[in-house]
Amino acid sequence: MSEIAKITLEGNEFEFPVIKGSEGEKAIDISTLRSKTGHITLDPGYKNTGSTTSEITFLDGEKGILRHRGYSIEDLAENCSFLEVSYLILYGKLPNKVEIESFETSITEHTLVNEGLDAMFKAFPTGSHPMGQLSSMISALSLYYPKALNPNRPEEAINRTVIRLMAKMPTICAMIFKKQNGHPTVYPKNNLDYVTNFLNMSFGQVADPNYTPDPVVVKAMNKLLILHADHEQNCSASTVRVVGSSQASLYSSISAGISALWGPLHGGANQEVLEMLENIKNDGGDVQKYLDKAKDKNDPFRLMGFGHRVYKNFDPRAKIIKTSADEVLEKLGVNDPVLEIAKELEQAALKDPYFVERKLFPNVDFYSGIIYRALGFPTDFFTVLFALGRLPGWISQWQEMRRDKHPIARPRQIYTGATLREFIPIDKRA
Ligand code: CMC
Repeated sequence: MSEIAKITLEGNEFEFPVIKGSEGEKAIDISTLRSKTGHITLDPGYKNTGSTTSEITFLDGEKGILRHRGYSIEDLAENCSFLEVSYLILYGKLPNKVEIESFETSITEHTLVNEGLDAMFKAFPTGSHPMGQLSSMISALSLYYPKALNPNRPEEAINRTVIRLMAKMPTICAMIFKKQNGHPTVYPKNNLDYVTNFLNMSFGQVADPNYTPDPVVVKAMNKLLILHADHEQNCSASTVRVVGSSQASLYSSISAGISALWGPLHGGANQEVLEMLENIKNDGGDVQKYLDKAKDKNDPFRLMGFGHRVYKNFDPRAKIIKTSADEVLEKLGVNDPVLEIAKELEQAALKDPYFVERKLFPNVDFYSGIIYRALGFPTDFFTVLFALGRLPGWISQWQEMRRDKHPIARPRQIYTGATLREFIPIDKRA
């Protein structure tokens, strides 16, 4: 018999079904709560609220488990290309050879960005934040593909938009990187695989068509993109779903997701980690001083790259990427004092009772920032790389929301302001 939750309110008892996920997670289905009882639930930050059922990603924060469509992140990161994982997340199955080839080919057919968009891009002020540029560029894609404004087109037409986004995102990210360096755009080379093409557009030069990225760098970048590919109902994925639920286009929804990711408590943390480490170094390298600041409740400082809303024992992505970070630093022979500070801080925090008691461990952003820096990306570009990896996840969350015919997202509130007041004309107001 299925489980029932009972709520007693003002002397009356109400019953609500308990639903169970395929991994045994339980939820009380309160979708009829207000109509039955006149009450709503209050849950700021949605810490206890399931906003949807989903078949894309499973994570268990206590056990440190992350799986996409049933496959462990460890297996995917070790064995797959980013496009294979993207295909899995987008279409629900690991592709066979024919399917992946066809996916890759269709992506290569759409890698160029309209030159008209380039004119708008060139007008962005030099030094403007890459994430602002990225969300504007993705939003502007909708101006060039007006049919995509309608999210109710046949699946085949929607899929063309999906492919366009996957194809143009690396080109746009690399354009932003090149502009930041004052270098001309390097156009996509469609004989290269997705990751190598992105690295070529970022680090290759128009004047040097023979640039080839180091295989260690390609491998690390591929892994980083996979580790960021989806993370169920986080702040940016929820934003994509909320915006999409009003039947806004995929481009607008993804652009909103990019803006949500930008914040320092979400994807922006990877930039903040490196800036924090640089500050500690410039301030004399006293790691303990910064640990004490993070523990001081009167000080707003937080140890960036530590803690996670869901993972409360360890972040499985951090475990995988830490090995990659060590590999990249050794292979590239990087000798960076900031990285020494990172190691010291990690060791000191892992032993400190404040962090141990609160289960605050280094998250994926702590190590990803370290690798991005070693690869030669500037700190304010790190979150763009996170967005590049997260794209298939956002698209898939949007697709699931659309196919499940989710109603428009519209939470309620408990009003705590003034009750009805008598209106006073302006000349009589005190
Ligand atoms: N430094 C110092 N104290 C912390 C930190 C930190 N980084 N994170 C949490 N705490 C403390 C917090 O003050 C609270 O203490 P107390 O119980 O004494 O009041 C306790 O730990 C629980 O924190 P919380 O704020 O209730 O936890 P949350 O689940 O609301 O926040 C978080 C999660 C990720 C926003 C937070 O840990 C944080 O701000 N971390 C730093 C930013 C960061 O690295 N973000 C990237 C997350 S991973 C990428 C992604 O998936 O977006």
